[in-house]
Amino acid sequence: MAIESSCDETAAAVLRGGRTILSNIISTQIPVHRKFGGVVPEIASRKHIVNIMPVIDEALGQAKVQLRDIDQVAVTYGPGLVGALLVGVSAAKALAFSLGVPLIGVNHLEGHIFANFLSDTTLEPPFAALVVSGGHTALVHVKGYNHFTMMGQTRDDAAGEAFDKVARVMGLPYPGGPQIDKLAREGNPLAIDFPQALRDDGSYEFSFSGLKSAVLNYLNSMRQKGTEINRPDVAASFQRAVIEVLAAKSFDALEETGMDTLVLAGGVAANSALEARLREEAAKRKIRFVYPSPILCTDNAAMIGCRGFYQARAGKFADGYLNAVPGLGLSDVEDV
Ligand code: KG4
Ligand code: ZN
Repeated sequence: MAIESSCDETAAAVLRGGRTILSNIISTQIPVHRKFGGVVPEIASRKHIVNIMPVIDEALGQAKVQLRDIDQVAVTYGPGLVGALLVGVSAAKALAFSLGVPLIGVNHLEGHIFANFLSDTTLEPPFAALVVSGGHTALVHVKGYNHFTMMGQTRDDAAGEAFDKVARVMGLPYPGGPQIDKLAREGNPLAIDFPQALRDDGSYEFSFSGLKSAVLNYLNSMRQKGTEINRPDVAASFQRAVIEVLAAKSFDALEETGMDTLVLAGGVAANSALEARLREEAAKRKIRFVYPSPILCTDNAAMIGCRGFYQARAGKFADGYLNAVPGLGLSDVEDV
């Protein structure tokens, strides 16, 4: 049984072994938060409390298993909103304690990478993972199931955060990423030359806060001049600036490390133009490109279960003192 409640999705899944999904239930709070233009942490916590037991029940029901069949419980303990995380962590601890089974604390970002093991059951390390979510943007060298090296991450905003902020200044509803994705399909990505920060600096670090300001400045100056704004062009050009940086750094990383597989992970992996750009470039370079199916791209518990399975196999369990760690990041993990 795996549980995920780090942000605005209450999710539970049942897996058999590490790679077979028996059920994957997601109760989203997006409609609740939309009228506020973003996730309201206190409301999220309360909704998780209401939803957690029904979601767990549904996951058991759909998997056609009973509570007594559950032999391990995995849960996201960070990063995320503290109140939201605590609901899942408390439920998982209670479940593991009452069933007398091991508890596994999972890093949500590692979970996003492991979503790929569910989408492509033949995938095995080593590979390079580009993690692009609402809160993080990073390149990770996945050397083994429990052995990761960080290659670089964002200095400021995450890619998803940039999508959400730009969508907001364009008056698009929350969450902005899918809205920009849709609008951009009708626009010209070469219409406006937005900055591609750190693109060719030789590092694996990212920076998206300047891009967000550039879009804002562009919109303001067009409004001041009274020039009509072509919204699809703005969306497509902004999206291109993000994608070009992500693609350039990902393929540099593959070249430097000599790896032949690129894995895409996190909510922004659902972006159709990003997926298409990486797929096209990978084909040119004879690189294997793997990305999760849409349901496994955004937050879900199946990916947490998959990560938890491989941690358990390495003997990495949590105990009753497991706590939420809102600021948990991705860091090097050494196989022992
Ligand atoms: O991984 P995720 O579901 O939650 C976090 O762990 O942060 O990622 C959510 C992020 C949001 O910023 C959302 O706008 C973005 O993923 N996102 C997208 C798309 N779908 C979701 N960004 C661009 N294009 C999309 N199609
Ligand atoms: Zn996520």
